[in-house]
Amino acid sequence: MTVRLARATDVAFARQAAMKAMTSLGASAIKRTKFVTAVSEIARNAIVYGGGGVISFVIVGNGSFRKVVATCSDRGPGIDDIKQALIDGFTTGNGLGLGLSGARRLVDRLDVESSRESGTTVILESAAR
Ligand SMILES: Nc1ncnc2c1ncn2[C@@H]1O[C@H](COP(=O)(O)OP(=O)(O)OP(=O)(O)O)[C@@H](O)[C@H]1O
Ligand SMILES: [Mg+2]
Repeated sequence: MTVRLARATDVAFARQAAMKAMTSLGASAIKRTKFVTAVSEIARNAIVYGGGGVISFVIVGNGSFRKVVATCSDRGPGIDDIKQALIDGFTTGNGLGLGLSGARRLVDRLDVESSRESGTTVILESAAR
């Protein structure tokens, strides 16, 4: 499942897709809510800072190792210092600087790849419980 992120209202479609993926995984209510919230923040960043992008959801693995993997990519200017961007309160915009750092705490894995040439890709993973 892939959702295009062009405008602010597209975050709602990303949230819906995230919820659908977690539901089909059989995820607990708490894991579903955490994952959807994290996806919201990452999708919003792709729109605000990345000039738009795309987020896709897949389910990988077997048995109790099954998990949802979301990949959010944009072709924006990239993040200068990823470590810094992941610190609570760091922002170059008008936000609280809690999107990335908060999202990382809500999922089982969050990885950021970024460069000036290819933009930013954030990978989020969550298991069912
Ligand atoms: N997709 C992106 N492309 C370029 N820069 C990004 C991207 N995502 C995040 N950043 C950079 O990382 C910083 C921190 O992001 P984070 O989401 O934590 O905070 P914020 O968006 O500034 O505020 P908040 O999410 O709390 O409203 C941003 O201010 C921005 O400089
Ligand atoms: Mg943000």
